[in-house]
Amino acid sequence: MTDTINVVLIYGSARDGRYCDTVAKWARAQILAHKAFSLDIVDPAELAIPLRMSRNESGDLDLLKERIGTADAFVIVTPEYNHGYPAALKHLIDSVYGEWQAKPVAFVSYGAASGGLRAVEQLRQVFAELHIASMRNTVSFANVWEQFDEQGRLHAPDRPEKSMGMMLAQLQWWAVALKNARLHTPYDLVAT
Ligand SMILES: Cc1cc2nc3c(=O)[nH]c(=O)nc-3n(C[C@H](O)[C@H](O)[C@H](O)COP(=O)(O)O)c2cc1C
Repeated sequence: MTDTINVVLIYGSARDGRYCDTVAKWARAQILAHKAFSLDIVDPAELAIPLRMSRNESGDLDLLKERIGTADAFVIVTPEYNHGYPAALKHLIDSVYGEWQAKPVAFVSYGAASGGLRAVEQLRQVFAELHIASMRNTVSFANVWEQFDEQGRLHAPDRPEKSMGMMLAQLQWWAVALKNARLHTPYDLVAT
């Protein structure tokens, strides 16, 4: 199959003054450099999703489900907060269910000393519950504010670009394989 792969890039931080904008902008450019991918961006700071998770769904929630449902693959750009990932990201993840299933996810993480790796390992557990395949390779920025200049350019781009290229190659492989598999056999026949 040679169809375009619809990648949804999801922001992990909804904090005022967040560094997520810088990291996500870099990730966005890397994804768009791949001819195989088209891109949608989901930002929890721009979504009105009710915290009470009422059954009376808001317009934003319906639209979010549609955008996750039409995706073929996900890239999460997440910081680490207190050895975990932000609550805004968890709320976004929990607001959708079946639309996530049988698709791949990849992670770009950042933070202080850990580079967000603990947040990523926790996200793997969450996405396993949602029937999502998480990519083995990741891109991680430790002490992130030292990695980018004021224009959002990396001081040393080679290694992160190489890591991102490998991770996106894995994401593409899984996205194509799972898209074909979903077409052949709807996953909700086996998901419970
Ligand atoms: C509440 C909070 C907790 C944090 N905890 C950690 C942490 O456990 N490990 C780490 O490496 N960085 C930690 N940091 C640093 C953040 O990862 C870093 O400030 C990052 O830029 C936050 O992402 P954001 O600016 O996009 O919101 C923490 C920052 C905040 C605001």
